Amino acid sequence: MIIAIDGPSGAGKSTLGKMLAKKLDLLYLDTGAMYRAVALAVGKANVPFRDVDRVADIAETAQIDLVGEPDAMKVMLDGADVSMDIRTLDAAQAASVVSTIPAVRRIMVEHQRAIGESSPTGCVLEGRDIGSVVFPNADIKFFLTATPAARARRRFMEDQAKGRISTYDQTLAEINERDERDVSREDSPLTIAEDAIVIDTSELDLSEVFAQMLERINDRQAAAAR
Ligand code: DC
Repeated sequence: MIIAIDGPSGAGKSTLGKMLAKKLDLLYLDTGAMYRAVALAVGKANVPFRDVDRVADIAETAQIDLVGEPDAMKVMLDGADVSMDIRTLDAAQAASVVSTIPAVRRIMVEHQRAIGESSPTGCVLEGRDIGSVVFPNADIKFFLTATPAARARRRFMEDQAKGRISTYDQTLAEINERDERDVSREDSPLTIAEDAIVIDTSELDLSEVFAQMLERINDRQAAAAR
C-alpha cells in the first residue's frame, strides 16, 4: 500500500505520516528530509545553488539514508548523522531553493520511488509532489493544509519547546516565503492532486485528523477488497 501525504509546511504531515506508518506497519519516508540533506551537502561543498550542474552532481552522489523507526528516524548524509543540522531555518530555506532545480527533483523522485517500492508492506510518503509526481497511482492521497497562521503557531510552539530562538512573526514570514516558492516553482509545484482527500487541520487536533485519515484508508481498503 502506498499512502501519499502532501501539503505545505506545518500542516501536520510528518507527525501524522509517522503515526500512520506505525499503526499500519508501513515504511515512512520523509521526502523533505532528502531535499534538506541535499541542500546541506551543497552547502558543505561550498557550491552556489545557481551552479545547477554541480548541485545535480552532488544530489546524484550524496549518500542519503533515512534509518530507524519513524518516530526516532535518523537522517544520514555520507555516513554522518545530520538529523539536527537539517532542521534549522537556514536548512529549510536552502531545501526550498534546491528543490526548485529540475535535475535534483528527478534524482530524488527516482530514489523515492525505489525506496517506496522496496518495502514489502508498503510506504507512507510525505512531501509536496507525492500524489502528483512520485506516486500518481498511490492507493490513497491526502492533502493536509491549514491557514498560515495556524501553521506558524504550531511551528513556533515546536521551536520554543526545542529551545530554538525565533519569534512568531519570523516563523510566519518564513512559512509565507517557503509557501510562495513551493507553489510557484515551475517543476512539480505544490498542488492538490485531483483525487486527493483534502483535510484542513487548522481547527482540528492531531487525534481528530488521525481518526479521519484512518477511516478513509479503511474505507478505501474495504472498497478494494470488494
Ligand atoms: O517538508 P519539509 O519542510 O522538510 O521540506 C523542505 C523543502 O523541500 C520544502 O520547502 C519543499 C521541498 N520539498 C519538495 O519540493 N518536494 C518534496 N516532495 C518534499 C519537500
